[in-house]
Amino acid sequence: MDIRGKTVVITGAGSGIGAAAARVFAQRGARVHLGDIELSLAEQTARDIADHGGEASSAQVDVSDEQSVTVFMKGAAETWGAVHSVIPCAGIIRDGLMINTDRETGKVKKVMSLEQFQSVLDINLTGTFLTIREAASLMADNGWEGVLFTISSVNRCGQVGQLNYSTTKASVGLWPKILAGEFHMKGIKGIRVVGIAPGFVGTPMLKNMNQDALDAILKDVHIGRLIDPEEIADLMVYVMSNEAIDGTTIEITGGVTYGPRQRAK
Ligand SMILES: NC(=O)c1ccc[n+]([C@@H]2O[C@H](COP(=O)([O-])OP(=O)(O)OC[C@H]3O[C@@H](n4cnc5c(N)ncnc54)[C@H](O)[C@@H]3O)[C@@H](O)[C@H]2O)c1
Repeated sequence: MDIRGKTVVITGAGSGIGAAAARVFAQRGARVHLGDIELSLAEQTARDIADHGGEASSAQVDVSDEQSVTVFMKGAAETWGAVHSVIPCAGIIRDGLMINTDRETGKVKKVMSLEQFQSVLDINLTGTFLTIREAASLMADNGWEGVLFTISSVNRCGQVGQLNYSTTKASVGLWPKILAGEFHMKGIKGIRVVGIAPGFVGTPMLKNMNQDALDAILKDVHIGRLIDPEEIADLMVYVMSNEAIDGTTIEITGGVTYGPRQRAK
């Protein structure tokens, strides 16, 4: 698939992987419609792209709000005349243990609140559902071909301290198989579904960590550094161009090696 002139809708486009995807797709000739809960951040990304000769539009969206997502996606189609791909990068982490016990008494002193658990599901899971559902509906109704992405994570395997986050990332990592199967069953051609499961990427989500925590993470990474957001975006561009990639989730981790390190201890 030639991505020149295609419309790519990106949420969470004000920062990190979403902003990098916006820049990289625009550099390759796609038109990008950018959403973020922080409108000024999405607008900034769109301005940067326009300053470099690319085509971008922006709008506010709260991916956890059904009405907001519907309006946002229709806005993309109205602005550019079609939707060919969606990259739902809006996401949050709110780490913590499900139950945390006191070191001296052994008794539970703190639990993960329902709000802490649910807020991550609302944005990472329900937000992804609403975003790709609205895009898929428009694409199927209008015969627009392209790719629905989901953004999973290497931590979909079950990261301690991330019961909420890992739950969402395991789920969206399964969706390509389910949705490609549903589309195949219904004879919907030309809409592929592909998950991207990054390792540790140098975005504000990770860079705000303290240096000790970051060093501990990097000990498990074969390439010994954080991945650049643009490296994730390059993979998305490749996925879009190669029709054989469908119904699967691809890891891009720089060689995260939890296993060998644990065995070596
Ligand atoms: N950074 C990593 O190492 C890493 C690894 C694997 C997967 N991911 C996933 O990639 C995605 C992007 O992560 P990032 O590191 O670029 O994060 P980031 O924090 O840099 O950017 C996330 C963006 O989402 C926006 N956002 C938050 N809530 C929103 C809402 N309700 N509606 C709309 N926008 C909202 C934020 O304003 C922000 O601009 C996330 O789904 C994350 O889980 C990140």
